[in-house]
Amino acid sequence: MKLDAIPSITDLDVKGKRVLVRVDFNVPLDEHGAITDDTRIRAALPTLELLLERGATPILLSHLGRPKGEVVDKLRLDPVGTRLEELIGKPVRKLYESRGERVANELDQVDPGTIVLLENVRFHPGETKGDPELAADFAALGDAFVNDAFGTSHRDHASVCGPARFLPAAAGLLLQRELDAFARVLDRPDKPLVAILGGAKVSDKLTVIDHLLDRVQALIVGGGMAYTFLKEMGHTIGTSLVQDDQLASVEASMRKAEELGVELHLPLDHVIADAFSATANTQVTDGPDIPDGWMGLDIGPKTIRRFCGAVAGARTVVWNGPMGVFEMEPFQAGTKAVAEAVAACPGYTVVGGGDSVAAAERFGVTDRIDHISTGGGASLELLEGRELPGIVALAKR
Ligand code: 3PG
Repeated sequence: MKLDAIPSITDLDVKGKRVLVRVDFNVPLDEHGAITDDTRIRAALPTLELLLERGATPILLSHLGRPKGEVVDKLRLDPVGTRLEELIGKPVRKLYESRGERVANELDQVDPGTIVLLENVRFHPGETKGDPELAADFAALGDAFVNDAFGTSHRDHASVCGPARFLPAAAGLLLQRELDAFARVLDRPDKPLVAILGGAKVSDKLTVIDHLLDRVQALIVGGGMAYTFLKEMGHTIGTSLVQDDQLASVEASMRKAEELGVELHLPLDHVIADAFSATANTQVTDGPDIPDGWMGLDIGPKTIRRFCGAVAGARTVVWNGPMGVFEMEPFQAGTKAVAEAVAACPGYTVVGGGDSVAAAERFGVTDRIDHISTGGGASLELLEGRELPGIVALAKR
């Protein structure tokens, strides 16, 4: 399946119709329930504006958090509705349920063209089980279905996949933008394509590595996951993160890279510390070996030069995962330098994955990156070459 070959909202007949829209308003909240990052709400605005312009009544379905099939008051969508109202500058009618007769009756009272936000769909136990009855109940509330919840499209849940079985269905503008970005990386990249992978656990990224090795000209590996590679190569890694049960897998990845002629860039030096703490003693190593009692928490200056040089020559870049513990000031230089190199790269650039998006924001480079994904798990599954159930549900119609 080609990632971008699915029906588009722009081809859907929506005039005078109630259009169910699955959005991903799973936004972070602070301890008082206030929204700390509204990126996902902003990202849905183009689709909602298009629907309103075309005379539809958008009825929004979303989850928030993981309430496990029970009503959890602090996970109600009211703050999301209020923020959406502020952002879109139009009234949003928030209902207290997401299925059933009462909702249907309330929808009959709503003026056409009003945005309606239903309650958290995960208050129903059937949502995460993909319950077909729940899906049918959702579908009964609308005349057409739009999936714009890229961040949840890897979940085979009732509100994500179900309505497409009953209603004319299409991808919203956000979903299309996301799929187009990943298609530009995975299906039709301008070469050289360079992937930068980081993060703590190599086991989380092995499938991504395998899938990307068939596509990239260079693969850059940093972060905690790099130490398993270095150990397999015979380097000393002190007390750095390592997954001994993955040594054979990384050896297989290295062999595959060599066979395919993919340049594999691993750390050449490190910022090391004597404890996992922002106030630990630190040093920069000369080479890839780390002495006993010390742990690698960031890439060193030689590595930064090597990695950033590889990024500068790329025509397509995809970045997933930080190069070190960038949340702590002494170990942020590597991730910061890579973020800046991606931003400065004249090629097409995509950042996916929660931590690398947070890093791009922290280092102020988001405006200079072509695409910042709104989906962590979903983007990782695309990079693994997996089909997302929410996309398949639209494509197989
Ligand atoms: C996300 O934040 O990754 C999506 O909203 C999916 O949420 P989930 O991991 O709870 O299914």
